[in-house]
Amino acid sequence: MKLFLDTAIYEEIAEAVNWGVIDGVTTNPTLIAKAGHDHEEQVKRISQIIGNVSAEVVSEKKDDMVVEGRRIAAWHKNVIVKVPLTPEGLAAGKVLAGEGIRINVTLCFSVNQALLAAAIGAYIVSPFAGRLDDINEDGMRVVADIVAAYRQQEIKTKVLAASIRNPMHVTQAALAGADIATMPFGVLKMLFLHPLTEAGQKKFLEDYRKTQEAKPMPTARQEPATKR
Ligand code: E4P
Repeated sequence: MKLFLDTAIYEEIAEAVNWGVIDGVTTNPTLIAKAGHDHEEQVKRISQIIGNVSAEVVSEKKDDMVVEGRRIAAWHKNVIVKVPLTPEGLAAGKVLAGEGIRINVTLCFSVNQALLAAAIGAYIVSPFAGRLDDINEDGMRVVADIVAAYRQQEIKTKVLAASIRNPMHVTQAALAGADIATMPFGVLKMLFLHPLTEAGQKKFLEDYRKTQEAKPMPTARQEPATKR
């Protein structure tokens, strides 16, 4: 399972890219607003340092979405165009996918919706696990069911577990067979943490320092001769 960052904040993405653990980024209008930059400028900047950058259309009608989707796709080769799982969004997504543009169908909450996304030739479908949990439904169950249905039907659309809220969601997405999980920077940082890793590393460094302290101090005769 590939790990994506769910943010439009450049500094967070740059730090995660430096760690070498992420393969992409997902943005949405809310995340762009939080980052406080112009949509086009920010997506282009992010696309310079990482592949697979999802950027969402904000038009509401099919024809407008098609025009906007083409414009967004032209920003950078790493851009994937996000369309909402609505009749207009899917109709636009079908046209764009037919032109070879990679489409991420967002706001998916059920297996049937995921089948609709696959029907238009979407590259990615994004089930929102956390938002389902918020309304007392089992979000990761829906992710697992979409993966199972796609396998059964030999559908190639990638399943991207979105709206991830905690490290347990990431583990569950991997066990469910999701192709990608996208998560906020805070969750990505938590994936590194384990008390035994911290304690083990602390002890290794302490023991190394002890071996350095135990080394005999060089005597005057052993000192390298200094030039006069
Ligand atoms: C995915 O592409 C979405 O941007 C995202 O995961 C939504 O997450 P949220 O429910 O935490 O807003």
